[in-house]
Amino acid sequence: MYNEIDLDKIDLSSEPPREEPARQYYYMAKCRRHVKAESERLGRPLFAAVRTFGCQMNARDSEKLAGILESAGYMETDREEADLVIYNTCTVRDNANQRVYGRLGVLNGLKKKNPHMKIVLCGCMMQEQSVIEKIRKSYRFVDLIFGTHNIFKFAELLFAMLESDRPVIDIWEGTDQIVEDLPIERKYPFKSGINIMFGCNNFCSYCIVPYVRGRERSRAPQDILNEIKKLAGDGVIEIMLLGQNVNSYGKNLENPISFAQLLKEVEKIEGIERIRFMTSHPKDLSDELIQVMKESKKICRHLHLPLQSGSTPILQAMNRRYTKEQYLALAEKIRREIPDMAITTDIIVGFPGETMEDIEETIDVVKKVQYDNAFTFIYSKRTGTPAASMPNQVPEDVVKKGFDKLLKTVQETAKARTALLRGRILPALVEEINAQDDTLVTGRLSNNTIVHFPGEASLIGKIVNVRLKECHGFYYLGERV
Ligand code: SAH
Ligand code: SF4
Ligand code: F3S
Repeated sequence: MYNEIDLDKIDLSSEPPREEPARQYYYMAKCRRHVKAESERLGRPLFAAVRTFGCQMNARDSEKLAGILESAGYMETDREEADLVIYNTCTVRDNANQRVYGRLGVLNGLKKKNPHMKIVLCGCMMQEQSVIEKIRKSYRFVDLIFGTHNIFKFAELLFAMLESDRPVIDIWEGTDQIVEDLPIERKYPFKSGINIMFGCNNFCSYCIVPYVRGRERSRAPQDILNEIKKLAGDGVIEIMLLGQNVNSYGKNLENPISFAQLLKEVEKIEGIERIRFMTSHPKDLSDELIQVMKESKKICRHLHLPLQSGSTPILQAMNRRYTKEQYLALAEKIRREIPDMAITTDIIVGFPGETMEDIEETIDVVKKVQYDNAFTFIYSKRTGTPAASMPNQVPEDVVKKGFDKLLKTVQETAKARTALLRGRILPALVEEINAQDDTLVTGRLSNNTIVHFPGEASLIGKIVNVRLKECHGFYYLGERV
């Protein structure tokens, strides 16, 4: 629908419409008029930079922000010496917050040189009261702040900011609204993420996401399928279905549907050649899903299955709702049913009360599952989560020792799994020219392994067969066949 709306035909002398998304298109048109006048005054286009922190869901949100900025008449740039800079923030671990504060200092310097510059903050970090207070007090040069629940209102907020010389701050506690059909500016022409659900109801005791992203809401299957069909029409061949826990997709819809059923419908869409999804909570991964993955020609051979810990008492304190044995049984079933499936994971070290013995249990799971890759994180205390007020926060030396030992094991299993592919010929989707060597292109296998091989830009966005010649730890050098 959004491609068909002509912003120049919207009557700006009338009252703004009440219904969405029409209201936002009205404000996009208003912003556009403002941006055009400003750009005529300066005799050059206005530039906007969108910078993303955090997960795939934030990356997708940033494409929505970029879509609205483009509709408003801004030219996109990677450089932060721009007329408008927006940070889409993450708060899952404290270092994500520290990075934003650090960068804000730099932006302040840029703004001193260009006083017309506008600085915008949004995303998960902005849903925390303490962050807003800190920015209000110590970062007064920020022009607009909004959160995760009202991102669909970006055009309206942008206009409010352009018309005001005081900071605009609008944070919602929650929402049950899902606004469809706003413009999106995709980063890649050939692949795209698609939100299938928002929020999370799991309340893992260490995690801040349910507090900053709100309750779980699934999009209607028809909206998802229509969006994917439109993307396929635009030349997208790989999609990634996004949600904090895709395995519980659809349970709360008026006409409930399982994630596996949704996947079957997505499979039927012509033009889509690869289907990925993120993230799966082990407690909800059904046999139905394993069967659908097994029979599918399009679902990629990659499953991200966060473990968090291999120690049952720690898992219990984390509120993960599975035991070490249940997780191992699940991983074994997947390996048995779909042997070429890569399994990757997330692990936290240093959760309150964790001992070296607990970490050994985690290492044991890593050895047994033989992960293809694992992201290991040091536990970060998040204010407001149950774990933050647990006693027995773990001493730094235990964390460091455990983390190093775990990392070593993870690297060993990942290398061993990657090496299994040596000599095989497999299809790779070419994503880009290699950053270090422009005679090479970089492709991704169905199981998410990266392969670099000689090739040129015309291959980007195509799936080609590649022989995997040299294994370099986590990636391959290959040749097209
Ligand atoms: N919904 C996803 C994860 C989203 S957050 C899932 O449940 O799998 C991504 C990862 O960040 C988590 O899997 C976890 O390993 C890590 N993480 C979350 N909160 C954390 C914290 N307080 N400290 C350290 N790592 C954390
Ligand atoms: Fe956080 Fe757990 Fe929800 Fe993942 S499932 S987002 S780790 S609360
Ligand atoms: Fe971070 Fe928010 Fe994603 S906290 S990990 S950007 S959901």
